[in-house]
Amino acid sequence: MHHLRLEAVDCTLLIACAPGASPSLLYWGPKLGDHVSGEEVERLSLRQGMHGVADVSLPLSLAMEAGLGHPMVQGLAAHRDGKDWGSLFRVAKVETGSHSGKVVCRDEQTRLGLEYNFVLEPDSGVLRIASTLTNYGAAPLDLNEMATACLELPQSMTDIIGFTGRWTQEFGRERITRTSGSYVRENRSGRTSHFSYPALLLATADTNESAGEVYGLHLAWSGNHRLRVDTLTDGRLIASLGALLFPGEIRLAPGESYASPEIIGAYSDRGFSALSRKFHQHVRSRLLRPEMRAKPRPVHYNTWEAVYFDHDTEKLKQLATKAADLGVERFVLDDGWFGARRNDLAGLGDWVVSEAVYPEGLGPLVDHVTGLGMEMGIWFEPEMVNPDSDLYRAHPDWVLGVEGVDQVPFRTQYVLDISRKVVADYLFDRIDAVLRDHDIRYIKWDMNRDLSHPGGLDGAVRAVAQVHALYALLDRVRSAHPQVEIESCSSGGARADMGVLAHSDRVWTSDSNDALDRQNIQRGASFFLPPEILGCHVGPAHCHVTGRRISMAMRAATALTGHMGLELNLLTEREAELAQLKSAIALHKRHRTLLHDGEIYRLDTAPQHLASGIVARDKSEALFSFCYMTGDQHVLPGRLQFAGLDLARSYHLSLIWPEGWQAVKAPSLIEKLDLSGAGAVFSGAALMQAGMQLPHAQPETCLLFHLKAV
Ligand code: DGJ
Repeated sequence: MHHLRLEAVDCTLLIACAPGASPSLLYWGPKLGDHVSGEEVERLSLRQGMHGVADVSLPLSLAMEAGLGHPMVQGLAAHRDGKDWGSLFRVAKVETGSHSGKVVCRDEQTRLGLEYNFVLEPDSGVLRIASTLTNYGAAPLDLNEMATACLELPQSMTDIIGFTGRWTQEFGRERITRTSGSYVRENRSGRTSHFSYPALLLATADTNESAGEVYGLHLAWSGNHRLRVDTLTDGRLIASLGALLFPGEIRLAPGESYASPEIIGAYSDRGFSALSRKFHQHVRSRLLRPEMRAKPRPVHYNTWEAVYFDHDTEKLKQLATKAADLGVERFVLDDGWFGARRNDLAGLGDWVVSEAVYPEGLGPLVDHVTGLGMEMGIWFEPEMVNPDSDLYRAHPDWVLGVEGVDQVPFRTQYVLDISRKVVADYLFDRIDAVLRDHDIRYIKWDMNRDLSHPGGLDGAVRAVAQVHALYALLDRVRSAHPQVEIESCSSGGARADMGVLAHSDRVWTSDSNDALDRQNIQRGASFFLPPEILGCHVGPAHCHVTGRRISMAMRAATALTGHMGLELNLLTEREAELAQLKSAIALHKRHRTLLHDGEIYRLDTAPQHLASGIVARDKSEALFSFCYMTGDQHVLPGRLQFAGLDLARSYHLSLIWPEGWQAVKAPSLIEKLDLSGAGAVFSGAALMQAGMQLPHAQPETCLLFHLKAV
């Protein structure tokens, strides 16, 4: 066999894998007809040598190993005591399933094996690639670098879209034009990070939300990573993603293997939103647990911004009562319930309910919450320890670090080496005890510092091991308590990748509950993650992180399109605002199935607006959000062209939020058509192709439109 060929609903993958040659990506793009052969594509790819470079066009390979002799790119770097560095992998065996394939390669000279596993999901068209390197030699092998795969993509992909940010500003998009040489994003923080989300898009210059070609690549990994796009002098383009390895971190003894994290990729020729729909389908059908998919996502109340460390059972009970009255379905007790954790200076690691704060234990609060018909959730940060804790005093040798080097100060906490069995067992036992002792259905699993010095007790680097240990610990808690949902949180959204999502149920998107920030953050996250797993909370009117004052109408509209929650002090909010919040929660519940199961259509708008919609899979219903972030330059904004509807059907259109909304200088189209009242019916074609004139609105207004097929 010379080609591994996989087909999905709308795309074809061809891997060149002739026996004895190095495997490479030959084609990944729109579906090729059955009459198109791999040979044909290969013959059309023939290249010539040139003066000033090698006499033959150097082949590219999935590994871009040193033995290829390529002058620019190396995706795999390994050696045995300075030797055996020049591997050249040759295909030894190819196996195919209906939608998967395996390419097994060997290099007899350096006695290494390299295996690639491909899955092309037939329904979504999502491509998954994993690779495994095995040391068949007699001596240990040091692996310095290994991209999961190096993928040659079409040169017409001139634009790179990277995802970056910081604490409270996650999922920012940066679109740049590719230049010659390398685009590299490296993350050495030991967690997924705020600053380098492990994903990138490659698109043509004119690709937008609804049209154009784009490849999306995501590394399902919650640790150090390296993402590269290399533009070679011969014009070819290689994208490569892999875990980033520290010196000496991976040393393979004879017979041992290193398994890379998976690349989750997708291709679309219908723009960014169509690409996101593929990723969402993957997350929904392959990562999330079916039983959690089947259950409506309960509306949360989280105590953090309401009380911080100031825990008091009576006050918490009052908050719970108030929350239940508003329609909240799950009460999550955040940081501060255990050990000496009265601030962020002490107590981490001592996972025992604080007797000083909860003299009767957590039982009375849990009973109160469950008695109100809500589920109880609780916060843990298992991987961390404060130096001022009983755990650290008893086991100072449990933390990661480098001998002779001071710990980097970071929220007054150190990282436990959870790859050590004794440490993982301790953490499991503590979490297990809390879950066994109480009727708790949800864990907010936090992680609030970088692994600045990820050295273990023996001095070797434990960063990769730490990520595997995290996944194992999450799985262990999950299998002991399958009814408990787990949220992946890391100072907001610093651990929200598809690796951790195989072991958890939702992510905390950001510590900014500022609705304006959130509009942008949630839009960025939506490139890869579906709305139902993005924790989106209504924060206080006076945003704690930004100091901005934002109306309840705007805050609620922003939170209700994701996994809705509240995170404000309900005891001090004005009654009028609470009434509005109660309506918003009811609205969210009314449309929750649509929001959490529908398909995303982000819209391209003027920069001062943000708009997107969720359309039911059968196109019978949709909910669109149009947000006026800042003031308009023109007297009136333009038209809203809905997307994703059925051109041939008619829809009843109404403005469902804010309630009773009136345009500035009414009547606008909203009042003229009574969209806030009875609504009006239009054809899908008119709504999408002609579009609807938008009303003038004040900055920081978010309008929600509902469409129902008639
Ligand atoms: C960081 C999280 O992102 C917050 O939501 C909160 O849980 C704090 N940690 C608690 O320390």
